[in-house]
Amino acid sequence: SKDGFEHYMLKEIYEQPKVVKNILENREEIYNSNFSKEELEQIDKIYIVACGTALHAGQNGKFALEMLTGIPVITDIASEFRYNDVFIDEKTLLIVISQSGETADTIGALEKGIRYKAKTLSITNVMDSTIANMTEKSMFCNAGPEISIASTKAYMAQLTVLFLLSLDIALKLKAIDTQTFDKVLASLKEIPEKINIVLKDLTAYKEIAKELKEVNSMFYIGRGSDFITAKEGSLKLKETSYIHSEPFPAGELKHGTMAIIDETSKIIAVAAQSGLDAKTTVNVSELKDKGAKVFSIGTEENEVLKNNSDITILIPKTIDLLVPMLAVVPEQLIAYYTALAKGNDVDHPRNLTKSVISE
Ligand code: F6R
Repeated sequence: SKDGFEHYMLKEIYEQPKVVKNILENREEIYNSNFSKEELEQIDKIYIVACGTALHAGQNGKFALEMLTGIPVITDIASEFRYNDVFIDEKTLLIVISQSGETADTIGALEKGIRYKAKTLSITNVMDSTIANMTEKSMFCNAGPEISIASTKAYMAQLTVLFLLSLDIALKLKAIDTQTFDKVLASLKEIPEKINIVLKDLTAYKEIAKELKEVNSMFYIGRGSDFITAKEGSLKLKETSYIHSEPFPAGELKHGTMAIIDETSKIIAVAAQSGLDAKTTVNVSELKDKGAKVFSIGTEENEVLKNNSDITILIPKTIDLLVPMLAVVPEQLIAYYTALAKGNDVDHPRNLTKSVISE
């Protein structure tokens, strides 16, 4: 049931604090589903392969894995990976991520990984799914059934599992000490309450939706994991509101795309990571100079961003690694309210199915 919410998408967005909390409370299950120290010591590279939103979770996971474990991580789109030349052998850990556990291209990618003798690990939201059953190790998101076609809480669950997995691998390999492990875990435990803060006041999201509903095309920008968040926001807007949008690494704008920008342009800028937000803010002021309208997602600390944006959504501070868990929530709500403003069938976008079982 929708628990009093108008749509499953909104209900599932609001379930996210609970989803994170559940996984954290049962985090031993994640650690117990991981490879052993001895097995992990044999790994010299990690591939993360998935489709759509699940791939975006994986691209955030890459930042965490590389930072905490020092092992190089390659991310790839399942439908590309399965047919391209790839560098996998028995020293490769192949991580596949899939909400449904039934996505045809992800299964194809996994079959290829198994053929090349990679160690395999899956992160799914369906325990007895094809993908979960095919991998040596399987981790369960436990987000509850996701009904809305646009994925929200499953993405949040995938991020949570990926961060715990990264911590566990890093500790087993002694790439981090227990203090670092505890520090990141403590920050993770604060995330549910911080998501609740983002969910409290909906005014700004509705206001932005009003601005976007007449737009034919727009941009999302960001750097580092803020760019991954921009990609996820752009996908969410496309699928629910049918508005064309393109995500851009902020620094790439001036290498071509800036030519499009004029006073009719609208941009969502994600500038929430402390290391990179100042750089993205420079791009925001350049966009303002061209007359564009900019809606930004940032933190309290960035006054310049606020001064240069038409509307700024402030998210609570957390460590940079975990920013994607907070910055995505305003984007989900913007996509939801824009679809609503356009009168679209939010939970059942046209031309899409929940589980893509053909390639
Ligand atoms: C977007 C969305 C899709 C899925 C993709 C993979 O909101 O839901 O992009 O993420 O089709 O599906 P799973 O995770 O079931 O493999």
